[in-house]
Amino acid sequence: MGNFPYDAVVFDLDGTLFDAEEGIVSSVRKAMEEMGLVIPQGAELRQVVGPPLRYSFHDLLNVPAERLDEAAERYARIFRSEGMYRYSVYPGIRTLLRVLKENGLYVALASSKPQELCEHILQVYCLRHYFDRVIGETDNHAKLGKPEMIRRALPEHYRRAAMVGDRLYDMEGAKAAGVDGIGAVYGCGSEEELRKAGADRLVSDADALRELLCPSVPAPRGFFLSMEGPDGCGKTTQANLLEKSLRQMGFELVRTREPGGCPISEKIRQIILDTENAEMCANCEALLYAASRAQHVHQVIRPAVEAGKVVLSDRFVDSSVAYQGGGREMGVEMIRQINEPAVDGMLPDATVYLAIDHDTAMKRRLSASRPDRLELESSAFHGRVQAAYEELIERDRRRFIVVSGDQPAEEIARQVLRQVLRRLEPGCEQEGESTWKES
Ligand code: TYD
Repeated sequence: MGNFPYDAVVFDLDGTLFDAEEGIVSSVRKAMEEMGLVIPQGAELRQVVGPPLRYSFHDLLNVPAERLDEAAERYARIFRSEGMYRYSVYPGIRTLLRVLKENGLYVALASSKPQELCEHILQVYCLRHYFDRVIGETDNHAKLGKPEMIRRALPEHYRRAAMVGDRLYDMEGAKAAGVDGIGAVYGCGSEEELRKAGADRLVSDADALRELLCPSVPAPRGFFLSMEGPDGCGKTTQANLLEKSLRQMGFELVRTREPGGCPISEKIRQIILDTENAEMCANCEALLYAASRAQHVHQVIRPAVEAGKVVLSDRFVDSSVAYQGGGREMGVEMIRQINEPAVDGMLPDATVYLAIDHDTAMKRRLSASRPDRLELESSAFHGRVQAAYEELIERDRRRFIVVSGDQPAEEIARQVLRQVLRRLEPGCEQEGESTWKES
């Protein structure tokens, strides 16, 4: 282990690991509506994130004392079925946790939510495998309180520990438990609140926290994910859904596309796809795709992957192999050679392929409002594209994630996400996948 200031770190959940505002506020609002209660004018609903809920319902939202049990029950039901799926992991938290684990730090959670709910939330968002211990409330009638939770979350032996949290309760708890308090000012508490409560250090985001906990450790290499498929397979819709889910789970994502992805390559895209360029010869087309790729790799893909980001690219070199190699019958070898300097060693770590029946794809292409130059190609051309893709997949089964595009969009999205998570977070296999819902 490096020479780091702490060897054990305890995290709070809401407002520290997760942006919980939307999930909590929407659940509170719905519980109040179900009970026929009106949210008082001017009530700052953000304030309900953090303090104990009974306090929020009673003191902030004027729920009468005799209806507090009902409010709490309704809230719990709504939160578990909807609210928790509206959480999002703060940017940088996933990388931070990975760096902490890779550098041998002990990592735990201490939250005033019920223990099994803490476990469940961490699993749904594929974070559970980063935690050595998870401590939450086990019995509503005998509250542990934050200091005791922090003590229980700590390992048996440690040199120096810190509690990271966004509210005064976390900082006061840290003091009482005899550990340092690190205030996360990006959460729900203000800088003033955290200072007054005795925070030893303040951090403005997860990257600053990483620098504090593991100084000078660079971000681990990112991940290069491409999406492929014949025109009309629904690739762009699926890329959008995947992007949304991955962002919500805290992956720092760079979304891009080919041809295009940066200004020079977007200009080349316009030339390639322009229906007026009907006389463009196959060699020119293949070289333009490669030229646009060279700039894209240089300017976007490589820098992002090296900075630890997940790059999600709508198409990459497999498209050239399938369309120019297969469709234009230039052959796979020629396309590989042309693309070698363009790709420059930057091959996708995984590729999602949306498989679709040839006739269905043809129908979808022809119904496009403004088909581009390639979409206007013959059925035979697209048949060769598809055959070339199939050969590519056969040769590289480990890289490809093949999902049938002939299913409802939500089902495709679920399967794509599950398989992509297996590659992105091998440690979280079986976590979250059965429970994740599209909200
Ligand atoms: P795409 O942006 O996926 O089209 P759309 O916006 O219609 O979904 O790709 C544009 C077209 O370019 C598509 O028909 C596939 C083709 N293409 C190639 O022929 N070779 C390549 O190397 C790439 C990246 C795309």
